Amino acid sequence: MKKLVILVSGSGTNLQRIIDSTASGEIPDAEISLVVADRECYGLQRAEDHGIKNQLIRRGKGFSAALETLMPEDTSLIVLAGFLSILSTGFCEKYHGRIINIHPALLPKFGGKGMWGMNVHQAVIDAGEKESGATVHFVTAEIDEGEIILQGKVAVEENDTPETLAAKVHQAEYDIFPKAIAKVLRNQS
Ligand code: GAR
Repeated sequence: MKKLVILVSGSGTNLQRIIDSTASGEIPDAEISLVVADRECYGLQRAEDHGIKNQLIRRGKGFSAALETLMPEDTSLIVLAGFLSILSTGFCEKYHGRIINIHPALLPKFGGKGMWGMNVHQAVIDAGEKESGATVHFVTAEIDEGEIILQGKVAVEENDTPETLAAKVHQAEYDIFPKAIAKVLRNQS
């Protein structure tokens, strides 16, 4: 069994998708060994409800160092599933090729510092984009710049608001995230 560590900051619907797809075998031969949140959030509760070990490490300077001390030795992949802190350069280098992130836009557009959650969807609408989507990519020390693993597209309609666009992008995320995780794990073995 490959072991996953999932990092969350929010409601954790993507975490739920990962929990469900490890259980169903959509992500084969994998299980979540630890969920870590950088703030109080519903994602932690989801882990608790499924009997998954979970831990709050408050965001801030010492986050990456504290996470490193908690990391199970046998971790195959660290998955950022709606995680809003920036991991230290040292942490990204130590786990190079074993950290992935989901981003709610079609990178390399609409990435980088400040581009998270609703900010992203507002920026996409303001720019008059005709399509948006979700990207799963490897994490490097440069924010949102690592190699892209999978993308899913959605149409941006004239009457879309950040909220309606977010809902569509979430659906694209639920589609590509398990596939991307399975793909990375497959390529490891
Ligand atoms: C997702 O849309 C994810 O792409 C985004 O946060 C949301 C979390 O939703 N991540 C980022 O903005 C990271 N830069 P969830 O908590 O329901 O999974």
